[in-house]
Amino acid sequence: MLNLSGKVAIVTGGTRGIGKSIVMKLAEQGAAVALNYRKSSKEADELVNEIKSKGRKAIAVQADVSDFNGAQNMVKRVVEELGSVDILVTNAGMNWDGVVWKMTEEQWDNVINIDLKGTFNYIRAVAPFMKDKNWGRIITITSINGLRGKFGQINYSAAKGGVVAMTKACAKDLGKFGVTANSVAPGFILTEMGESMPDEFKQAAINESALKKAGKPDDIANLVVFLSSEEAGHITGEVIKVDGGQYI
Ligand SMILES: NC(=O)c1ccc[n+]([C@@H]2O[C@H](COP(=O)([O-])OP(=O)(O)OC[C@H]3O[C@@H](n4cnc5c(N)ncnc54)[C@H](OP(=O)(O)O)[C@@H]3O)[C@@H](O)[C@H]2O)c1
Repeated sequence: MLNLSGKVAIVTGGTRGIGKSIVMKLAEQGAAVALNYRKSSKEADELVNEIKSKGRKAIAVQADVSDFNGAQNMVKRVVEELGSVDILVTNAGMNWDGVVWKMTEEQWDNVINIDLKGTFNYIRAVAPFMKDKNWGRIITITSINGLRGKFGQINYSAAKGGVVAMTKACAKDLGKFGVTANSVAPGFILTEMGESMPDEFKQAAINESALKKAGKPDDIANLVVFLSSEEAGHITGEVIKVDGGQYI
């Protein structure tokens, strides 16, 4: 069993879907967990109480990931209240799809600010602490559509492709300080975001996967827990797909 006792993790967008599963699994392995969210304060409070009832430390912070200063403030608060920051999972993300000839500036800016800049904001905020500690695990959540480009998702594909490049550059910047940076690329996963896709898109995703099924949030969280561990310490700059063979 992987042991994350004594580690402090930040998970962005931790109230539901993939983020919630990551929060729960990191806590189950012994980590103290700080999660953030934008709107879902009731869900965040319930999750924190559930983790505390299992004897782990947890806090929730309302902070839009696109806000640079919000990220700085959250990380400072986590260090003050939980003692350090060892693991960062940049999970918060959203999509606002449209074909290129119809996409508005607002659609583009929203997705780039949350999915791409939001990832930078949190990496930037934790990097000085991990560097000083000579230990850290950064795990970004991209998408197979950031690797191949997807019809109707020029903004989301660009943001998630940028996350991959950012993760690799980060692995080079921080490697000599004992900090690893890796990216997990989900295929179609059954969450609110996944379910919001039109039925024909969902069926097409299942049809194109080798395993002929959608993934579950826990499929992503299991890999994130491994990449957070001491045992994954010689893996960095990697992008690992968890997609049931959807993009081979
Ligand atoms: N589901 C899939 O099929 C799939 C496939 C590939 C990649 N992914 C990626 O996996 C990640 C999680 O996706 P999911 O399906 O679990 O999404 P989800 O069910 O829509 O959950 C998104 C989470 O992110 C939070 N969030 C959204 N915008 C935020 C912001 N600006 N600041 C802070 N928190 C914010 C939400 O909190 P609030 O409710 O408070 O807004 C929620 O906790 C995303 O990065 C997504 O792009 C998902």
